[in-house]
Amino acid sequence: MEKTLNYNKSKKEINFVNQLTLPLKKEILSCRDFNGMKDAILSMKLRGAPLIGVSGAFGLLLWCFENSGKYQNEDVVNFMLAFEKARDEMASVRPTAVNLKWACDKVYNEVLAARPKFITEIIQMTERLCVEMDSEDIAICEKIGRNGALYLKEKFKGRKLRILTHCNAGALATCGYGTALGVIRAAHETGILDYVWVDETRPYLQGARITAYELMEDKIDNYLICDNMAGFMMKKGLVDAVITGADRIAANGDAANKIGTYSLSVLAKENGVPMFIAAPKSTFDLAIKTGDDIKIEERSEKEVTEMHGARVAPHGVRVKNPAFDVTDAKYISGIITEYGVIEKPYKSNIKKALS
Ligand code: MRU
Repeated sequence: MEKTLNYNKSKKEINFVNQLTLPLKKEILSCRDFNGMKDAILSMKLRGAPLIGVSGAFGLLLWCFENSGKYQNEDVVNFMLAFEKARDEMASVRPTAVNLKWACDKVYNEVLAARPKFITEIIQMTERLCVEMDSEDIAICEKIGRNGALYLKEKFKGRKLRILTHCNAGALATCGYGTALGVIRAAHETGILDYVWVDETRPYLQGARITAYELMEDKIDNYLICDNMAGFMMKKGLVDAVITGADRIAANGDAANKIGTYSLSVLAKENGVPMFIAAPKSTFDLAIKTGDDIKIEERSEKEVTEMHGARVAPHGVRVKNPAFDVTDAKYISGIITEYGVIEKPYKSNIKKALS
């Protein structure tokens, strides 16, 4: 499995696939500066909750490289004050996925707690934390995959499953392997996958462009459908389970994910199809009681009025483009994590599983 981010220590650069040009062109980009990483996350060259978390942390490492020369090596206090500002700037680039804030806070807080005496120590520590976070994310996704596949095997008594997914919660949304797509990959490896329904995921088409691409690369059977076809497939009895990722999960189990996930969950409930969320611990925000308190990112209206630069709506039309929605916990049959599958009642079971 290819890694999503590649850190070149000698060149002090981060290499990654530009997700905007997929699937037509696999373009590798190199980034050597903090603003470049911020732009890559904002413009969605890098996207997906766990991936933007680790990318944000690497962005802070690049900030350290760029700024250390402005300070005396002993001037840790002023360097950390500026580092804190950079952390806040990076953490706010995309507001819904809590993983970005989590990863930026983790690096800053651990460095601060170590009470470094020199800026060189801060840089070494930041570098180590980023590299660890990157490989830990892959290991966590593999665990999520294994836990999900085992659970599904038992629940469906080894039957071959037709799984519907939305957006891209795959290797390219993480440092490798994926969360929801990690479960699908593991189900395929376990021999319990029939095929995957891939929602195209308007407006940004992460399903059509990225999930279908990943599944094709891995030779996993799939059908691409438009988002408005999912209900029809469920009603026809052609979907055994829905599995998506998440960008932020509140203490009561409400889960923010790509716009359209909520509609899918209601359709799944109506049609007796279980709906699962697959996510790592870093996606839980226990400070938030319910999904009502999750900030939803609004993106450019061009994402709705244009497709690949071609206008598809009348000029002057009024547009809304919320990038995420919140699925109420009551519609979620289970949350697949690296610690196992969390079932209802979520409030107490989430607390137990994550402590
Ligand atoms: O706007 P995006 O493409 O970053 O949104 C991604 C999603 O909504 C994913 O489902 C979520 O981040 C989980 S990724 C493992």
